Amino acid sequence: MSNEWYTASAPGKFVVLGEHAVVYGKPALVLAMDRRISCSVRRSKRNTLNGEPLDFNRQPHFRYLTRDLRYAMDFVTNSEIPAGSGLGSSAALSAALALALKEESGRQMTEKQLVDEAYGAELYAQGNGSPMDASACVHGGGIAVNLPESTGKHLWNISRGNRSWNVTEMNVPKMTFVVGNTGIRAPTGPLVDKVRRFTNRSHFAVDIVDEIGNITIEGYDALRNNDVETLGRIMTMDHKLLSILGVSCNELNRLVNATLPYAYGAKLTGSGGGGCMVALTDTPEKVASVIESRGGTAYIVQTGSQGARSELEMSTDPLMDIPMDP
Ligand code: MEV
Repeated sequence: MSNEWYTASAPGKFVVLGEHAVVYGKPALVLAMDRRISCSVRRSKRNTLNGEPLDFNRQPHFRYLTRDLRYAMDFVTNSEIPAGSGLGSSAALSAALALALKEESGRQMTEKQLVDEAYGAELYAQGNGSPMDASACVHGGGIAVNLPESTGKHLWNISRGNRSWNVTEMNVPKMTFVVGNTGIRAPTGPLVDKVRRFTNRSHFAVDIVDEIGNITIEGYDALRNNDVETLGRIMTMDHKLLSILGVSCNELNRLVNATLPYAYGAKLTGSGGGGCMVALTDTPEKVASVIESRGGTAYIVQTGSQGARSELEMSTDPLMDIPMDP
């Protein structure tokens, strides 16, 4: 039995426009960000996670992604992406783990197969949602979903039931975003369910979802033309629409409102209910200090991060690192 370590990592992501509406097949714009999660695997006598016995009932991503394994493994995760914060920690973990397992098995995997694995793990763990996060965390850079006029390279189509998602690459001009974390953990599944219940019983909610789709198309043009003023205005409008859908909260609204005087626009990002907001700005230090002064944690985001990748340069035993909660 080889007990060599195999490590892979994947970036987090933030949504510029279109979260929640994308679940219904509407357009969305997403960027990978320069905070990553890494996952190391090696064959072992028992299944362990970060040095402790692995309880598959509490780790559905691990249960799903190891479903065909015939041997036990040690797993070590290390995360710079806060969990339940809307920054794609679940998709990034799935992508990094799926890739590390593939490397260990010596089998090849296309990017599309990796997305299918990561999206499958997300659906298994949370029961609903679109393949947007998995696509962004696997491919990296910028991703446009269901943009009718997208000029970027076509990556893949994914269908589920009567919904389908056409994913293309998106070239992003240099722009500065600041992410602000409220520190409130809010898992995605219940928020997606909340919007589904609202749209099931209200035409008004369906109209809001449609409108998010419409302004995302406008935002795509603004982004391509490097028109930060229009993009910022549309982001703030999107925040208002998401608030009407019931997925914002006081803490998010407070951070959004506090940053607006120093930003082109700001909005919640990801599933909401807590988690993170994002502001588009020319004065990132000022925006970051405003977020911190309101009790949030700020990350000045470098965009264009590489997608899921193997980490071949493993010099130390990953168990020596103190892992953070995945
Ligand atoms: C979460 O990052 C984005 C949502 O649109 C859910 C999804 O697309 O799966 C809220």
